[in-house]
Amino acid sequence: MTAPPATAGAPVPRHLAVIMDGNGRWAQRRRRPRAIGHRAGARAVNRVIDFCLERGIGALTLFAFSSENWGRPEEEVGALMKLFLNALEREVDELDRRGVRVRFIGERGPFAEPIRARMAAAEAQTLRNERLHLAIAASYGGRQDIAAAARALAVEVAAGRLRPEQVDEAAVGARMALADLPSPDLFIRTGGDHRVSNFLLWQLAYTELWFTETLWPDVDAGVLQQALDDYAGRERRFGLTSAQIGAETTP
Ligand code: IPE
Ligand code: IPE
Ligand code: MG
Repeated sequence: MTAPPATAGAPVPRHLAVIMDGNGRWAQRRRRPRAIGHRAGARAVNRVIDFCLERGIGALTLFAFSSENWGRPEEEVGALMKLFLNALEREVDELDRRGVRVRFIGERGPFAEPIRARMAAAEAQTLRNERLHLAIAASYGGRQDIAAAARALAVEVAAGRLRPEQVDEAAVGARMALADLPSPDLFIRTGGDHRVSNFLLWQLAYTELWFTETLWPDVDAGVLQQALDDYAGRERRFGLTSAQIGAETTP
């Protein structure tokens, strides 16, 4: 009898959040324009989606473009927008066929109308899918997300629909992006930097963090499995003691 894989029976994250970093360096190492790295990065997006579908991970949030990335050179932003539009045109039918629900988090306003229209169409087309909830963070910032929730609460208080003392963690959380999903269990950042770069600030409060030197375009199932194996060996205590956690899981 062959030994079961090391991960047999190990908990799989319900929600994986990824900062896909390192496209530019991947291209620079090949003496190619940064846009080539972004194109290679788009192929790695398909690999991480395949991986989640295979492993039964129910939610995947990908940081595709931060609110700060608008400040990059015009040529690079233009190339990214073109890629984005191409991906929306090419991939959505296949995602839909595979049971993926697609949504976008972040500010829509700064995007050109054809992109906004495609985003809305992709969301509408895949709305009823349940196998994998895919959230693409585009023109997204964690602080912006918190500020938007605060603004929504202020509007409700000003209108008399909510009392100030009702503004608690649950009320804020309910108005943040991804409020309908469990918080990310596992966060992966590729590209070697150890920072959150204004990704899901609120939602990552108790997420397990995993970093790799691998540049995003080089990511494959092997790298993703390393992250899952590491995650499976961690003890999530949520502020409690180890003994308490043990007591909770013992029948
Ligand atoms: C991540 O790769 C993709 C985006 C931010 C859009 P980068 O473009 O940041 O790649 P590096 O970090 O410069 O290598
Ligand atoms: C974070 O990467 C944003 C995305 C991957 C979309 P950046 O490359 O923008 O982050 P910094 O600038 O290194 O913090
Ligand atoms: Mg980067």
